[in-house]
Amino acid sequence: MSSTAAILPFFLLLLLLTSATTTTPTVYQVLEEYDFPKGLLPTGVTNYTLNKSTGEFEVNLSETCSFTVQSYELKYKSTISGVIRKDKLTKLKGVSVKLLFFWVDIVEVYRDSDELEFSVGILSADFQIDGFDESPECGCGFDCNGLGIEFEGEKKKKKKKKKKGVKCGDQVDGLFAY
Ligand SMILES: *[C@@H]1O[C@H](CO)[C@@H](O)[C@H](O)[C@H]1NC(C)=O
Ligand SMILES: *[C@@H]1O[C@H](CO)[C@@H](O)[C@H](O)[C@H]1NC(C)=O
Ligand SMILES: *[C@@H]1O[C@H](CO)[C@@H](O)[C@H](O)[C@H]1NC(C)=O
Repeated sequence: MSSTAAILPFFLLLLLLTSATTTTPTVYQVLEEYDFPKGLLPTGVTNYTLNKSTGEFEVNLSETCSFTVQSYELKYKSTISGVIRKDKLTKLKGVSVKLLFFWVDIVEVYRDSDELEFSVGILSADFQIDGFDESPECGCGFDCNGLGIEFEGEKKKKKKKKKKGVKCGDQVDGLFAY
């Protein structure tokens, strides 16, 4: 037996071992794999599980988290779960948005080219995707340095809204509609 033939299996094994230990992606990379922006989750994820065959996931944050995105108050519980597919998040649990005086669970999120659609069941709202380039920080969200990053998305949103209008009928609180 030549020495190369003896060494080859060893290298293969080494390669397998190193790739197994170095390729566990962060939850933010997982989001991007499924074509979602990483800003969909705030900073402070401590742990997550993902079943690649079913898309079921669970994410743990170090604390509950709330912040304002494009003038909506969002709240993340410390455990978020759901089912992820490309451009599609369903059965979401643990994320809510304040509508008028109520906290309503966001149950689905869809990506449609450069927009994210948040659905709370009968209501939905579209957000510009570039508002989610970075993960918000708990407390201050996307505008921690006071530079008003979110105003960029906000302006575009308003323009867009005039053109396209909201879904099915009455407007509530600017964006959400029955
Ligand atoms: C993260 O999740 C893994 C698998 O579920 C578990 O073994 C580990 O203890 C968890 N770590 C923390 C810090 O929760
Ligand atoms: C998240 O935290 C809960 C409670 O501490 C734990 O039961 C669960 O296994 C954790 N999930 C992950 C994905 O680590
Ligand atoms: C993923 O989910 C399927 C169906 O529930 C289950 O059979 C499988 O064991 C799960 N895989 C992992 C890695 O948890």
